[in-house]
Amino acid sequence: MLFRSFALSCALSTIAAASLSESSLQKHVDSLTLDHSFKPVKEAYWTSLPHHRRTPFAVSPDGQSAYLAYLDSSETDVHVQQVDPSTFAAVGSAVTVTGGKEAGGLVAHNDGFAFLTNEALPSGTADAPAASTPVPVLYRFTSGQQTWKTFLGGPGVDANFGLAASPDLNGDLVYSEEAGMYGAYFVITAYTGDASGHYGDSIKYVKTDGTLTTISGASSSWGCSHNTGIAFEAADAAPFASICAEDQGDIWLNTATQGMSGVKISNENTTNGASGEAMGGMSGSYSGLARLIGSDSYVFAWVSRGAVDLTENSWMGDGYTQCSNRTNGRNVAIAQFTDKNTLVGEQASSVVGAADGDSQINWITQGTADCSNAHVAAFDGSSVLVTWEEIENPFCPVIAMGCQGTFTGTRFQLVTNGAKVGDALVETDTYVAGDMVTMSDGRICWPYVSMVWDLSSPVAYGGSTATTTSMSFACMSLSGSSETSAPSSSVVIASSTVAQEEAATSTLATSTFVTSIRSSTTAAAETTTPVVEATSEVSSSTLIPSETQIDNTSVKPSDIVVPSAIAAPVTTPSGAPTAVIPSQSFVSSGPISSGLPSFNGGKGSGFGKGFGNGRKSSCGRQKRPN
Ligand SMILES: *[C@@H]1O[C@H](CO)[C@@H](O)[C@H](O)[C@H]1NC(C)=O
Ligand SMILES: *[C@@H]1O[C@H](CO)[C@@H](O)[C@H](O)[C@H]1NC(C)=O
Ligand SMILES: *[C@@H]1O[C@H](CO)[C@@H](O)[C@H](O)[C@H]1NC(C)=O
Repeated sequence: MLFRSFALSCALSTIAAASLSESSLQKHVDSLTLDHSFKPVKEAYWTSLPHHRRTPFAVSPDGQSAYLAYLDSSETDVHVQQVDPSTFAAVGSAVTVTGGKEAGGLVAHNDGFAFLTNEALPSGTADAPAASTPVPVLYRFTSGQQTWKTFLGGPGVDANFGLAASPDLNGDLVYSEEAGMYGAYFVITAYTGDASGHYGDSIKYVKTDGTLTTISGASSSWGCSHNTGIAFEAADAAPFASICAEDQGDIWLNTATQGMSGVKISNENTTNGASGEAMGGMSGSYSGLARLIGSDSYVFAWVSRGAVDLTENSWMGDGYTQCSNRTNGRNVAIAQFTDKNTLVGEQASSVVGAADGDSQINWITQGTADCSNAHVAAFDGSSVLVTWEEIENPFCPVIAMGCQGTFTGTRFQLVTNGAKVGDALVETDTYVAGDMVTMSDGRICWPYVSMVWDLSSPVAYGGSTATTTSMSFACMSLSGSSETSAPSSSVVIASSTVAQEEAATSTLATSTFVTSIRSSTTAAAETTTPVVEATSEVSSSTLIPSETQIDNTSVKPSDIVVPSAIAAPVTTPSGAPTAVIPSQSFVSSGPISSGLPSFNGGKGSGFGKGFGNGRKSSCGRQKRPN
């Protein structure tokens, strides 16, 4: 997130930069002591591999106050802590929003903050979702006091379409001073109406006084089917810039359409509702799209396995394609936009039969390592920081999901006008786990937990037990001569308990970890045309547990594909919608990865396509597609 009011000073202070070096990075290790404990590891959809649990971070337009939001380690209650933007130490104590289930987005103002979470409605609320499934809600706090609270789902919201809840709050919150409007883009599941039991996404606008407002051509009740990743950034007027990764094989710049249509950024192999965690998967969907400072241009960063062998997507119809992946691991890509609707260069191919589905991509990496957790933020009007994590020798047994293996470092790459500048800086003790913010002095700063980062095996049964009360921050400076503002002596540096706990839980990986599976990146080009039907027929019977299995807490999808020694039984996501999912099992026919195409009419937003005929309304998963 960035603030236009910084634009002029930042643009003027831009320095033609060499590549990033060690001196460009300033770490504030354990600078912030949390009032409550926090669990830094969130397990991924399907594989249960570890992800950083997101801690939203934001700085006010005047640069004076910063805020960090985090979910309590009990997984209920979200805390928002004010942070000194130079020392990254606590200012005062945390504000707690009781009942919040996820820290889903944060905007800082000069007089307070707004933040997005999801919470259960009070029992007895008319038309509430069953089983206390949380619904999305936006809070505004001014000078430490709650000023308003606006539900973005649940009773009364989009009642004509059907009511929606957000069992997981995958999404983001942005604010535009010029528009005088908050925008939130998040994953939902409908619990009434024709879409009941299906997953999609929704874009909502809220005025500065807390009024939820429907803006034609900008708001949406239902957009991308089974959204598997969101990138969202403010514009001077609604619609704000939006990107979705859906379950049919594409990533769209859907600013103008709000649905699974618009400008096709990428072809992605999509299987079992996922497309390679393009925007981070569970706990991702932040700092994926950056607006350049003082400009209408944007840069998007994501990870992709590339695309070969385009086939017709008969479920979606004419003009829609599916593809196979070119590589085993994921590489980092960027796309540039001259404004919120306009891609620089070609759209991704939609030519059925094409061998090549990714020739338009501007790759930042092109190797055999697996790259994940990609994010981007702007230094100024032309340069961005692109970051990701690598596993040099990845084991990627599960199609369209994440990989496992020895973590070989976080990369920080300077990119100017779409081109890499120098080599990436490699850090093995610094991660990105919350929003990357452009500070008033042009640095980019973000929060993380200083811990041993282990990507070698799934999170143990029941989820990670690691907790911490220490938060760290890192700042990248374009000048390479970042000033040294060491934490003040009054800061209490708490020793983190995370490292020890993580080390203790990762010992089983060595014996079962397979290092020998590495595909050549060129082998895929010779792959024969895949049989489209195979995806639904084969996978649905062998990989997708039935509804009852998914409800059963002792069965996990990845049991089937992960070596048994490292597989952990599933836990249903906290607040999982046990009652909003139809109880019958209907996964045996139709594309298993398809949910409900969007609603608003026209190509790619045709709610009616196949829906309700019993064949293609398969949505038989309880866990959402991250
Ligand atoms: C995804 O890629 C695999 C090959 O890795 C292929 O068999 C499958 O058909 C692809 N899925 C779709 C929907 O095209
Ligand atoms: C496609 O990706 C999967 C993981 O999603 C991997 O197992 C497979 O080897 C990849 N195919 C190619 C041709 O690299
Ligand atoms: C899961 O399955 C086991 C064995 O069939 C059964 O005993 C148990 O009650 C089930 N649990 C749930 C939550 O359905």
